Amino acid sequence: MNPKYYEPLEQMMAVRHQYMAKMISSHNKSNIYNFFIKREILDLGCGTGKFLHNYFELGSFCTGVDAANNFQIRNKKNYKLVKSNFDTFVKKNKKKYDVIFIFEFLEHLSFKDREFLFKNISNILKKNGFVFLSTINKNIIAEFMSINIAEKLFKLLPQNTHDPKLFLKPSDIQILSKKNNLKLLNIQGISYNPLLKNFKLSKIDLVNYFATISC
Ligand SMILES: C[S@@+](CC[C@H](N)C(=O)[O-])C[C@H]1O[C@@H](n2cnc3c(N)ncnc32)[C@H](O)[C@@H]1O
Repeated sequence: MNPKYYEPLEQMMAVRHQYMAKMISSHNKSNIYNFFIKREILDLGCGTGKFLHNYFELGSFCTGVDAANNFQIRNKKNYKLVKSNFDTFVKKNKKKYDVIFIFEFLEHLSFKDREFLFKNISNILKKNGFVFLSTINKNIIAEFMSINIAEKLFKLLPQNTHDPKLFLKPSDIQILSKKNNLKLLNIQGISYNPLLKNFKLSKIDLVNYFATISC
């Protein structure tokens, strides 16, 4: 896969950290830096593994899983990247994690795979653990922004990166969570400034958004 695919995602690192800090502070009453000491983290669709590595550096025990080997960081003690389809990994996995990252991943899964993932979250997430995810909303504006603007005009992503049929509305996340007895704790919008190349937390979830789930 073209490594260019991962570059715009690196611009999301800061806003993801900011979002998780906000959620951890309101639901766990702790500071993100204290929270991420000795946590078991699973990153599904981890890409290069760079985002996950930030949390290894904060003292967590990290496992990343991705179907493609675009890993840019070597495995070492407490930091392991595995080339595997997420479902194969989940079926074999016997461990529960404190935190699961599912950033910019759901919109690449088939309907069947996303059902499988939500059905299995309670098997891989510790009680009161957190799933942090981000994805693309499903509407004409999100489709226009991600395909016409991001892929075609600004060429931030290679063309055909996204299939808008697989985009998810916040209500889809709510339905998948409810169906699988998971608690949807929060939905928060993300805005993007392509000229400044930065993402910010926003009240508007029309295009990109974060969600936090627990069990
Ligand atoms: C948009 S990238 C997101 C990467 C990373 N989460 C980030 O935000 O920086 C989606 C990733 O999901 C991976 N992927 C897609 N389908 C997968 C599957 N069924 N199992 C595991 N990884 C998958 C792709 O190889 C790709 O690296």
